[in-house]
Amino acid sequence: MRKNIVAGNWKMNTTVPEGVKLAKEVNDAVAAAKDLKCEVVIGVPFTHLTAVKAVIDINKVGLAAENCAAKDKGAYTGEVSAAMVASTGANYVILGHSERREYFNETPEMLKEKVDLALANGLKVIFCCGESLELRENGTYKEYIKSEIEGSLFHLSADQFANIVIAYEPIWAIGTGKTATSDQAEEVHAVIRGLVADKYGKQVADDTTILYGGSCKPANAPELFSKPDIDGGLIGGASLKADSFMGIVTAF
Ligand code: G3P
Repeated sequence: MRKNIVAGNWKMNTTVPEGVKLAKEVNDAVAAAKDLKCEVVIGVPFTHLTAVKAVIDINKVGLAAENCAAKDKGAYTGEVSAAMVASTGANYVILGHSERREYFNETPEMLKEKVDLALANGLKVIFCCGESLELRENGTYKEYIKSEIEGSLFHLSADQFANIVIAYEPIWAIGTGKTATSDQAEEVHAVIRGLVADKYGKQVADDTTILYGGSCKPANAPELFSKPDIDGGLIGGASLKADSFMGIVTAF
């Protein structure tokens, strides 16, 4: 069933004590909020997962890792497996963020492996896609996003796909303060929902949650979330303060 979600992506920010403090603030704010119209998730560094899980109500605030390994276990120094993530009590994992595709050379094939391992370990996946400014300007962004989704997700069964949340994050809007207009975002969200419908049928497409990410703030969230195919946001900078994050959570 489609649901609204506002997920934070803390990226490589906060020490463990700072993160636990922030998680407690978000948890308390969510607990006190009346008539929330979305699910809340926080994506935190691996180092924080166990300590954050201990201070949140997982039934009110979901917990995501920001990545997982493309192998299930073994001699991969420094890697963190999907099983290890799941063992912390996390229930989501963010995969395919453009920063990982760029800085760590993540490919659609590698992400397909990560998606399979995440699902096999009971994690729901927030799968990121989005184009560069170059592709936006030369008009090939829809084809690129189609290739990202087909290359890493469309091998899944319809039942497996029910555990996928898609996050559209135009790279040119991430951390830049240059948010996509609500019409620009809605155009791509509708294309993504159409791709899912063509592959899995209208019901699966209607049930799929598609989030927008890229300089989403309390001021622009209401307009973005008013669009029919935008079901919430994946929030970077604004998730690092409980007040600004909750300003987006309550924007529906
Ligand atoms: O994953 C969310 C992130 O890429 C968006 O970052 O700082 O533009 O909200 P920001």
